Amino acid sequence: MNIVILAAGQGKRMHSNLPKVLHPLAGKALLSHVIDTARSLAPQKLCIVHGHGGEAVRAAVDAPDLAWVLQDPQLGTGHAVMLAVPFLTEAGTTLVLYGDVPLIRAETLQKLVHAARDSLAILTVELTDPSGYGRIVRDTAGRVARIVEQKDATQEERAIREINTGIMALPTSRLSEWLSRLSNDNAQREYYLTDIVGMAVAAGLPVRTTHPLAESEVLGVNSKLQLAELERVAQRRIADHLMEQGVRLADPARLDVRGEIICGRDVFIDVNCVFEGRVVLDEAVEVGPACVLKNAHIGAGSRLSAFSHIEDAIVGPDGVIGPFARLRPGTELAAGVHVGNFVELKNSKFAAQSKANHLAYIGDAVVGSRVNIGAGTITCNYDGANKYQTIIEDDAFIGSDTQLVAPVKVGRGATLGAGTTLTQDAPADTLTLSRVRQLSVSGWKRPQKSNK
Ligand code: UD1
Ligand code: CA
Repeated sequence: MNIVILAAGQGKRMHSNLPKVLHPLAGKALLSHVIDTARSLAPQKLCIVHGHGGEAVRAAVDAPDLAWVLQDPQLGTGHAVMLAVPFLTEAGTTLVLYGDVPLIRAETLQKLVHAARDSLAILTVELTDPSGYGRIVRDTAGRVARIVEQKDATQEERAIREINTGIMALPTSRLSEWLSRLSNDNAQREYYLTDIVGMAVAAGLPVRTTHPLAESEVLGVNSKLQLAELERVAQRRIADHLMEQGVRLADPARLDVRGEIICGRDVFIDVNCVFEGRVVLDEAVEVGPACVLKNAHIGAGSRLSAFSHIEDAIVGPDGVIGPFARLRPGTELAAGVHVGNFVELKNSKFAAQSKANHLAYIGDAVVGSRVNIGAGTITCNYDGANKYQTIIEDDAFIGSDTQLVAPVKVGRGATLGAGTTLTQDAPADTLTLSRVRQLSVSGWKRPQKSNK
């Protein structure tokens, strides 16, 4: 089988500098959705016709298994497929897809391709409002006779509600002959792919129609409004899939997955969370409302409270994170670590059972087990030019409002008094503090306002 994806159209109505097929849906370019679905059918040739945004489109989604054909100018869908023909294998079926119809299902395409083994097969749907689409014209016996475009249709034909989704499959051997006979003698002066339906009928090849499971599969994106509508459809599909696997969602309508999410048993996700890249939530993880996770792995039984932001980070099992925690790239937390509100971690490793519960910045640090980091602790890891590491060994206690001026090390079991500015290593099992001695001045009086 060959697959040709038509993606040369401009997408004027997107009002955007980004080529239409590169607009993201569920975090992935429209065209990539179609390519991925096409790949799942294991075609021998996968050919993409591109035009508008030419090289940008190719650069964004290129891969070794794709053949690219530039169509410039765009003279119609028939012209587009004609340019692809030299890249196709003669034998078998050719399936035509649209780069801006992202939610088509592999099962639907399999049915269509199956029907095309000895016929031309068209994917059609009945719409209450068919305006704008090509109509499926049938003879008195109910057989497909041809497709007529809206702009070329008579009043009677426009009343037909069965429309051409544009997705069709047919024997490759007939394709080049029929395409070479297309003319652009029509209302739009375009070479219509749809005209080959009439040719197939004339040649005695049966024309069959198959249908998608859901209308949303064949909806195209021509505007930001349609893009937003399809985003909800895509998200609902993901939500349904997660719930079928046993994930509990507070509200499937308030979930946004812009990548891949893998969940263990008994995961709970509260409302308005955004997941990007590859996110893994192990068994019994609870994600509170409005959390944002990107490329993260959350260990079993961990609880993320509201408004936590986690990117390129690993949380071990039984973590207690947030609310308002920020785990930046390179954060790796072992089991049972607590990270509380307004704590920012970057490129830092915490061993098991350590805690930073309030208002802290810990960057470029290696923290041992059972360490307690007090409120207001800051690693001064950056001197304006270079970054340095802070090491805090097991069982250390870092008093509140401490600055650790890196590179610096806090020994095992050490205690730092509140307010310490640590500029040299703190020895193990010892209290270290840097603090001006407290002074009380007896007999001191507050200044008085002078009365004139
Ligand atoms: C086409 C069909 C119509 C069908 C409709 C479904 C034809 C003649 N008409 O309409 O029967 O109901 O799709 O949406 O086929 N494209 C190219 N090169 C071109 C022209 C189009 O690559 O020269 C691509 C577009 O990027 C798009 C797809 O083909 O992905 C369809 O083009 P579009 O202009 O939206 O379709 P219509 O011609 O309106
Ligand atoms: Ca269209």
